[in-house]
Amino acid sequence: MTRLWDRGEPLDAVVARLTVGRDPELDLRLVAHDALASAAHAVMLTKIGVLSEGELAALKRELAAIARDARAAEFEIDPADEDGHTAIENRLTERLGDAGRKIHTGRSRNDQVLAAVRLWGREALLGIHAEAATLIERLASAADRHREVGMPGYSHTRQAMATTLGHWLAAHADSLLDDLPWLERAYAHLNRSPLGSASGFGVALELDRHLVAELLRFDSVQLNTLAVQNDRGKSEWLALGAALAVANDLGRLASDLIWLSSDELGFVRLPDQLTTGSSIMPQKRNPDVLELIRAAAAALRGRHAEIGNIYSALASGYHRDLQLTKAPFLEGLVQVGDLLQATTAVIDGLEVDAQRCRQALQPATAATDALYERVSRGEPFRAAYRAVAQDPDGAVGSATPDAWTARTHAGAPGALDTSSYRSGIERARAFEDAERQRIDAAWAELDRA
Ligand code: ARG
Repeated sequence: MTRLWDRGEPLDAVVARLTVGRDPELDLRLVAHDALASAAHAVMLTKIGVLSEGELAALKRELAAIARDARAAEFEIDPADEDGHTAIENRLTERLGDAGRKIHTGRSRNDQVLAAVRLWGREALLGIHAEAATLIERLASAADRHREVGMPGYSHTRQAMATTLGHWLAAHADSLLDDLPWLERAYAHLNRSPLGSASGFGVALELDRHLVAELLRFDSVQLNTLAVQNDRGKSEWLALGAALAVANDLGRLASDLIWLSSDELGFVRLPDQLTTGSSIMPQKRNPDVLELIRAAAAALRGRHAEIGNIYSALASGYHRDLQLTKAPFLEGLVQVGDLLQATTAVIDGLEVDAQRCRQALQPATAATDALYERVSRGEPFRAAYRAVAQDPDGAVGSATPDAWTARTHAGAPGALDTSSYRSGIERARAFEDAERQRIDAAWAELDRA
């Protein structure tokens, strides 16, 4: 087919390759959302007299078919078409004639790609939110199951004080719960309609930008047409940043699990279906999945920086540089979803060896608790510290593995309370249900004749 801006001059082959880049592949993810946004735009064009009712009906029918094809992986983007926006317009024109030739009235590919990215992004963020809530749920249940399993707590990777496996699991639930409001904030940032900003400066038509926003169930219109363009890259950076907070937490959890499941510690064990073997050492089972989660989090930090570096030093307005934010954004968010699912499978399959947990505890980990026993009897802290320091092993009693039970203030291992995770999950589910309904309502518009 042809590029939308083609005037007949030949285009240098390497320039074509560089400018088209990975769009024919990456835009496949955006085609359905682009079709959805195009349908809303067409409704608005009909309202202001650019399209007839007949043209609108034909366009909506074809756009719905395009979205279906895209979902079924039956939509193709020919590199000669440059990108998904062009492939859609060319198909509309080929099948519908003038209606297709009119669809680009009042818009630019600049606001078109913004709309598709935001519509896709809000669904991706919602998916990550839901996967994260599920993992929090599993971590909290595991924490309850293992609340009595004493084990060493570490700092500097050296034994510090006795804690429980439940307290350690709950700490990870806690961190992930902290990430949910960031995802919600990023979601709200994306949830504004860019359409009608065109190339950044509006058009000489009475566009009804609010109607388009309503049809797409965006929260509002992002008004200043230049600010809309300047938000490309920034939205992606914020959204991937929120997802990155999750990925970083998963990286730390993976790092803990690699260590805690080592041959030497063996506090937990990964079931065989979650481990991989060695091509040379027949006895080995390796935690590759955890290592890849840890490395993927590291790579995502790079992809986040990639987006930030591309957009942040640009002058105002659209620049083709911004096209390169698409891969790290789309692939990054998809990957965070995968990391969450893989981690959930690991937590669900985790086998706990309570005996090894307890046996690993060195008696001296109760030294601080012995010190506090003296403090509770009225001894000044520093005097008690010195007394215990003389002979830490002698100062601790025989109840070493249970030393954590004496620490019962809020948040301590002896007072594990997972109820805040349950209420956090409930709140998360309410947010997801409401937003899922909003998104379904937007898609329902596409099928409304
Ligand atoms: N593929 C382009 C992108 O992702 C679409 C927008 C093209 N706009 C332009 N003015 N050349 O940025």
